[in-house]
Amino acid sequence: MALSGGSTPKLLYGGLTSPEWRSQIQWDRVMFVFGDERCVPPEHPESNYGLAQTALFQPLGISPDQVYRMKGEMPDPAAAAREYEETLRALTACPAPEIPPLDLVLLGLGEDGHTASLFPGTTAVTEQRRLVTVGQAPKGIVSRLTLTVGVLNRATVVLFLVTGAGKAQTVRAVIEPRNQMEPALPAALVRPENGRLIWLLDRSAGASLSEPHRGAS
Ligand code: 6PG
Repeated sequence: MALSGGSTPKLLYGGLTSPEWRSQIQWDRVMFVFGDERCVPPEHPESNYGLAQTALFQPLGISPDQVYRMKGEMPDPAAAAREYEETLRALTACPAPEIPPLDLVLLGLGEDGHTASLFPGTTAVTEQRRLVTVGQAPKGIVSRLTLTVGVLNRATVVLFLVTGAGKAQTVRAVIEPRNQMEPALPAALVRPENGRLIWLLDRSAGASLSEPHRGAS
């Protein structure tokens, strides 16, 4: 499974490591990769790996050989992206030019419609050849490593986890675009070819959706 970044995963990790859920999954059968990573060392407070290590791997006793992190600390992000691409190919025994089918990809959503580190208007969004590329964020840690759209769309299950009223308009724009003129937001490009796309929204994040999409309340 590919883990997402940002702050929302803290909620998920808290649930997965709770007494109620931690024994529901055979964790020793899970290999963890990352959907994206900030170009910082693993101990940096902004590291997506750092959050997962503290909030998920350590509490569950995940063995380090089950975790494949993106090396955000490498001085050359493009080299780090190429290295991670090779890591993914080796882990999935998937030679170029095939795209490895990940079982589960967790994603978050930015208010600007980005997901992973695929930010609107950047070349990362349109990268077609690479599995991993360098994303450019408009604020915060600018350089990021990210899986590309092709990998996301090859997944068996893509699960967006989105909370908060601040995301409601973006959720609506992605799930219920009002007009095709709107440039496709990066998150709207995530349409698994043969997989399932699941949106897990809290009431606030789903508030702008029409009734049918709001599903079970
Ligand atoms: C990252 C994430 C990014 C995140 C969204 C939502 O590294 O920041 O991969 O895509 O999922 O920005 O972030 P929040 O969960 O903090 O709102």
